[in-house]
Amino acid sequence: SDSEKSLSSKYFYDAIGSELFERITETEDYYPTNCEFDVFETHKEEIVKKLPESFSLIELGAGDGRKTKVLLKECIKQKRSFEYLPIDISESAIKGLTENIQDEFSEMEIHGVVGEYIEGLNWVSENRDGAKVILFLGSNIGNFNRTQSIVFLRIIWSLLKDGDILFIGADLKKDIDVLLHAYNDKENITSQFNLNILSRINSELGGEFDISKFQHFGTYNAKKGAMESYLLSTVEQDVYIKHLQKSFHFKEWEPIHMEYSYKYSHRELEFLAKETGYNLTDKFVDSKKYFANYIFKAVKERP
Ligand code: TRP
Repeated sequence: SDSEKSLSSKYFYDAIGSELFERITETEDYYPTNCEFDVFETHKEEIVKKLPESFSLIELGAGDGRKTKVLLKECIKQKRSFEYLPIDISESAIKGLTENIQDEFSEMEIHGVVGEYIEGLNWVSENRDGAKVILFLGSNIGNFNRTQSIVFLRIIWSLLKDGDILFIGADLKKDIDVLLHAYNDKENITSQFNLNILSRINSELGGEFDISKFQHFGTYNAKKGAMESYLLSTVEQDVYIKHLQKSFHFKEWEPIHMEYSYKYSHRELEFLAKETGYNLTDKFVDSKKYFANYIFKAVKERP
């Protein structure tokens, strides 16, 4: 109902949305997942060497954990003692992931947590002592704007001890065509993924959205350095949502803003780390230089 309509991207991930996102990550056009795979495959030995002997491995927005498995295998190979605690807003994703991990790694200690990032992190902090390694992979940090990222990294910092690790992924700034294809894939799964949020309003809130009257639009905002996703109302229409007992008016081609996906430069990452209380100790980049992972070490005692 704002003058500029928007929906929060955290609502993307019901069971269908999580599944659609997994399919996006398998498309040729959506490169971040494949690039991060490449980083892990190439640098896994070095990455795991940087981790302590024993720790809780907490993953924020784990999804299907497909990439994480590469690191889990390497942790086992290097005889690390750890418990894997994936956190995800989607109950179906956590259920699928824990079952899948138990099948594949019968010995691994795993405890899935369903909830939002901070909620899940607080639970882990209250229930687990000892060293922490937090995984915040993919382009997840990109869904926050610069100010929100600083606030978020600072909250994580407040839950860490000196020397604990935040292992973070960041999608790097690059040729705009590559970005546009990644967020407007040929198979149209991104479009289905965005529209699914309207179906979700229909089924969970008694909404009356006619999905065929909305269109997905992904574009790059050069000033912000971010991809943006919109749903456009292709006609003038009113949509009633029963549980809110309220109608929403859409002008012809009026947008609903769905998500930002900010793209980063190395400098920006260095700035973020410094600003929020971490030492950026290592960076790992894929062969195309599209994507990077960083080790942020929490610094608590300043000399
Ligand atoms: N975190 C993902 C990203 O920013 C989510 C995502 C991928 C996404 N494709 C999308 C969100 C399309 C909205 C629309 O890359």
